[in-house]
Amino acid sequence: MLYLQSNNTMFRLLLLLKFASIWICVVNSSPPEDPIKCSFQHQDCTITNSYGAFPDRSVCRAAEVAYPTTEEEIISVVATATMNKTKMKVATRFSHSIPKLVCPDGEDGLLISTKFLNRVLEIDSLSMTMRVESGVTLRQLIHEAAEAGMALPHSPYWWGLTIGGLIGTGAHGSTLWGQGSSVHDYVIQLQIITPAGPEEGYAKVRTLANSDPDLNAARVSLGVLGVISQVTLKLQPLFKRSITHSVKNDLDLGDQATSFGYQHEFADLTWYPSQRKVVYRIDDRVSSNVSGNGLNNFSGFQSTLSLVLAILRTTEENQERKGDADEKCINGKLTTSTLKISAYGLTNDGFAFTGYPVVGYQNHLQASGSCLDSYKDAHITACPWDPRVKGLFFHQTAFSISLSKVKNFIQDVQKLVELEPKGMCGVEQYNGIVMRYVKTSNAYLGKQEDAVDFDFTYFRSKDPMNPRLYEDILEEVEQIGLFKYGGLPHWGKNRNVAFEGMSNKYKNAREFLKVKETYDPLGLFSSEWTDKVLGLRDGGVNIVGKGCALEGLCVCSEDIHCAPSKGYFCRPGKIYKYARVCTHLTS
Ligand SMILES: Cc1cc2nc3c(=O)[nH]c(=O)nc-3n(C[C@H](O)[C@H](O)[C@H](O)COP(=O)(O)OP(=O)(O)OC[C@H]3O[C@@H](n4cnc5c(N)ncnc54)[C@H](O)[C@@H]3O)c2cc1C
Ligand SMILES: *[C@@H]1O[C@H](CO)[C@@H](O)[C@H](O)[C@H]1NC(C)=O
Ligand SMILES: *[C@@H]1O[C@H](CO)[C@@H](O)[C@H](O)[C@H]1NC(C)=O
Ligand SMILES: *[C@@H]1O[C@H](CO)[C@@H](O)[C@H](O)[C@H]1NC(C)=O
Repeated sequence: MLYLQSNNTMFRLLLLLKFASIWICVVNSSPPEDPIKCSFQHQDCTITNSYGAFPDRSVCRAAEVAYPTTEEEIISVVATATMNKTKMKVATRFSHSIPKLVCPDGEDGLLISTKFLNRVLEIDSLSMTMRVESGVTLRQLIHEAAEAGMALPHSPYWWGLTIGGLIGTGAHGSTLWGQGSSVHDYVIQLQIITPAGPEEGYAKVRTLANSDPDLNAARVSLGVLGVISQVTLKLQPLFKRSITHSVKNDLDLGDQATSFGYQHEFADLTWYPSQRKVVYRIDDRVSSNVSGNGLNNFSGFQSTLSLVLAILRTTEENQERKGDADEKCINGKLTTSTLKISAYGLTNDGFAFTGYPVVGYQNHLQASGSCLDSYKDAHITACPWDPRVKGLFFHQTAFSISLSKVKNFIQDVQKLVELEPKGMCGVEQYNGIVMRYVKTSNAYLGKQEDAVDFDFTYFRSKDPMNPRLYEDILEEVEQIGLFKYGGLPHWGKNRNVAFEGMSNKYKNAREFLKVKETYDPLGLFSSEWTDKVLGLRDGGVNIVGKGCALEGLCVCSEDIHCAPSKGYFCRPGKIYKYARVCTHLTS
């Protein structure tokens, strides 16, 4: 593929091909691999996430995996392990969280998979509620609710998540209206199996109703309280939405970002700071008599030809190696314009995009993920991040900043871009900064204030010692968001640095820990990682060592934490003087 390195025209064609593969009728796609692999039946196992790499690239081991199919089986699995004081972790069928939440300590832990806990148990259209087992995927939930004429009003945009995993990490969509965008705030009851003493048979089922304060611990539990067996959600009558994307310059984004969220129920923004552009998603509920049968099949979640993925990755690696920022900016623009032309995968009727607004039913618009569909071989097509093929490999930094500080944060990023105009092109290659609205939650580990969640996706080298182009800019943005403005990290995304000093950011952290102490006094569902995140162990989550800042395992304090031999040294930030970032110095 050498011809690609210099042939920009060829490259553009291939990038287009990436999106063109939307229209090519591709039948061979492959579902993601099982994140759990065992060398002997259900024993001697490893677990990873859907990207095949945790932030510290460690391999997690467990002695065994259990696949309960009923609540009774969960009880018996938890009881046996509790009697034996075995460490446990709940795992899901795809394991989409980036941090090491699913790793039990040591090597003799037990994984309890929810893969076969995937039934809808009850749909009550009178009370508008739905009771499901915790391993049900978002896709299944949306589909079955719609069959009964109901909808979950807000959800993540990717439907490959399980209900247990997505509430466990506080996953959300985008709104400032009503109950907000976090799915856990629509949970009105759940059932959780926790360890217990011998007098109770070593395991017990706890039913937490809406009036039970413990539900606020269990809504966002990071998996440390026990195994959630079933969840009851409050739904709404199925409704229609009308979506229009509008592109504007980002001059007044600081002012717009707050008010826009109050103007439209499903508002969100995608920001391209180096291009000085923003896509405003004008998105509201409409009466069901407005015509339209729109469909969201987001381009970034479609199966992509593995050959195209390899070419994209090689091109990106070459740009990084050559330090070619201009080409990154060109590609960033091309990605943006290609997505815009393809209306981000929206169609007016399920087949073609003919213009805005796209009107359709909530269940057809709220989430997508067609790359999960399986027929054949990952070596033909796959989800863009599938670790079995050479494809996209990235870091994700995601935090929410309270509405009162959003303007200042945006202006800080704009100042950085003024100093370093190409600094954010790398993020634009991954479709820019996604900004979504979240509301204050009663969940102890949920959002503390109404806020905007900012998601950054960016190149990660296969070699952990390799710095990234404009390393310093993204590190500074990360530290400004997390430290200067006290941003709350998404529990299911991020690199280690995001979780430093977390427990001080939640006013009810103590309440959470009390419930944890009651439910699992031996900490069998906890690990070194969760203990450190929750402030229960000294030392924090940072892993200090050579090159640690490059992977977000530490904030640098010495040059050796960067890559001095490659010209990257630990220096203060450009506008936030308390930031410490790996800066490329040219002598
Ligand atoms: C392509 C993609 C798109 C995404 N889009 C969004 C988005 O739009 N919005 C958003 O907020 N996030 C998004 N995410 C992040 C995602 O929400 C989180 O990673 C999510 O929590 C993962 O869910 P999972 O089912 O894979 O759970 P896992 O990652 O497997 O598990 C998460 C945690 O929950 C625990 N857990 C799982 N099930 C149970 C159970 N039954 N009982 C007790 N504990 C349990 C696990 O032990 C673990 O600690 C996205 C991720 C990907 C890969
Ligand atoms: C989404 O697009 C893919 C093509 O990449 C297609 O195979 C799939 O059927 C589409 N999904 C829906 C629901 O139309
Ligand atoms: C009990 O735990 C030990 C190690 O902690 C493990 O080797 C053994 O297999 C466990 N026994 C059962 C019945 O789970
Ligand atoms: C559509 O429904 C609304 C109420 O939901 C009603 O006011 C309006 O008249 C209806 N329009 C048509 C064309 O039926």
